[in-house]
Amino acid sequence: METTPIQFDPVKYKNTTREQWQSAAEAWYRWSPTLNQWLGKATERMLDMAGIATGHRVLDIAAGAGGQSVTAAGRAGPSGSVLATDISSNILAFAEQMARQAGVGNIQTKVMDGENLTLEDETFDAVISRVGLIYFPDQQQALREMRRVLKTGGEVAAIVYSTPDKNQFFSIPVSVIRKRAGLPPPLPGQPGPFSLGAEGILEKTFAQAGFTKLKVERIDSPLRLPSARECIRFEKESFGALHQMMSALSDQEKESVWEEIERELIKFEGENGFTGPCEMVVGVGEKP
Ligand SMILES: C[S@@+](CC[C@H](N)C(=O)[O-])C[C@H]1O[C@@H](n2cnc3c(N)ncnc32)[C@H](O)[C@@H]1O
Repeated sequence: METTPIQFDPVKYKNTTREQWQSAAEAWYRWSPTLNQWLGKATERMLDMAGIATGHRVLDIAAGAGGQSVTAAGRAGPSGSVLATDISSNILAFAEQMARQAGVGNIQTKVMDGENLTLEDETFDAVISRVGLIYFPDQQQALREMRRVLKTGGEVAAIVYSTPDKNQFFSIPVSVIRKRAGLPPPLPGQPGPFSLGAEGILEKTFAQAGFTKLKVERIDSPLRLPSARECIRFEKESFGALHQMMSALSDQEKESVWEEIERELIKFEGENGFTGPCEMVVGVGEKP
């Protein structure tokens, strides 16, 4: 099928992103135990690589329901703090709930667009972002803002998906939806789950924004769930990016798309349930 090139509109994209995460907020929070199991290893590496230690002031960008904010707050200790920011107010309300439940008193939240930080220059020891930067229309603008608010010698660290072939639990739904919704493939430089995952891209992106001493690691992060159906439920309820791609389809078409996705994902079911292939890239850079 021929697809007509659609002009990318960053303002419209960002507004839709906000709305999608306003509605997916409760589900993202509810699936926290799965997120912790799936992203726990990469999260610990991100915090190691960012050198987060006692007394540090940490900024979390696109913090979502705050899973990684709570882990970072534990490392920063009572003499340090984490400011969890996100474009969605609903999801930050869940981050507050998460912090309360974890008994962590050193997390504050603030609604903020990651491309426009309403924060003072040179005030943070580290900036972190877990599967957030990939969804920003202007990643360079976001990274320049992160550099601005970091102290000299401070670190920025991010977790992004690697390439579609290594992340089939997500790339299969993306490609089925793209085909069924008649969407064109993303152009280089456009936001999306795999926008920073190819070899050398994260390093290049950090370097372009003025960061030095770059280090990147690839972390095997299989998504383990009881069945493919559970994986569908997880993605259907809480993956804002997929909702966004399906926004032009009718409810009936959406259901039929999910059925096709389930037929594809069933191949990752085995004796021990569903193991969805996923590889994360963790990158760190320093503000010189
Ligand atoms: C996949 S979730 C990740 C949440 C969290 N970091 C985690 O790993 O659990 C992506 C998050 O990015 C946020 N987001 C998307 N675009 C944003 C922007 N321009 N500024 C700030 N947050 C944004 C969404 O609201 C959502 O909470």
